[in-house]
Amino acid sequence: MEKDGSLIGQNMFMKTVIEADEGGIVPVLTMGPICITPTFKRKGYGKALPDHTLEKAKGLGYGAVLFEDNIAFYGKSGFDHARNFGIRYHDLPEGADDSFFLCKELIPGYLK
Ligand SMILES: CC(C)(COP(=O)(O)OP(=O)(O)OC[C@H]1O[C@@H](n2cnc3c(N)ncnc32)[C@H](O)[C@@H]1OP(=O)(O)O)[C@@H](O)C(=O)NCCC(=O)NCCS
Repeated sequence: MEKDGSLIGQNMFMKTVIEADEGGIVPVLTMGPICITPTFKRKGYGKALPDHTLEKAKGLGYGAVLFEDNIAFYGKSGFDHARNFGIRYHDLPEGADDSFFLCKELIPGYLK
């Protein structure tokens, strides 16, 4: 993200896959790290940046995005707990707190 020719923020996406229990893989993206330069924080850019880039990812045809952060922040950008899509975090012990692990479908029903 640039403002007046200066870089004020960034968001990154990586291609990855969900390994399905019954075999096979589901191509998805991971998001982050995302950041806004300190002097521009708390001005709305940290909300605008994921919203804009998630729209771009959707436009490129990606079906879902995984992210590790706080649902209170990123629920506003349409993320839900990944567990609600039936997705477990690789190597996290059964019963461990997975509330940090978030997911957003870009194509409705993509993860069904
Ligand atoms: C997280 C980060 C990207 C937010 O950027 P920002 O430009 O300050 O965010 P915004 O101004 O768009 O605020 C978005 C919402 O988050 C809230 N928020 C932002 N920073 C917050 C903070 N430190 N504590 C509590 N709430 C915060 C805002 O109140 C706002 O909520 P609202 O719409 O209800 O008012 C920025 O603080 C940052 O770069 N942090 C360091 C890197 C990081 O932690 N990235 C996330 C993990 S990859």
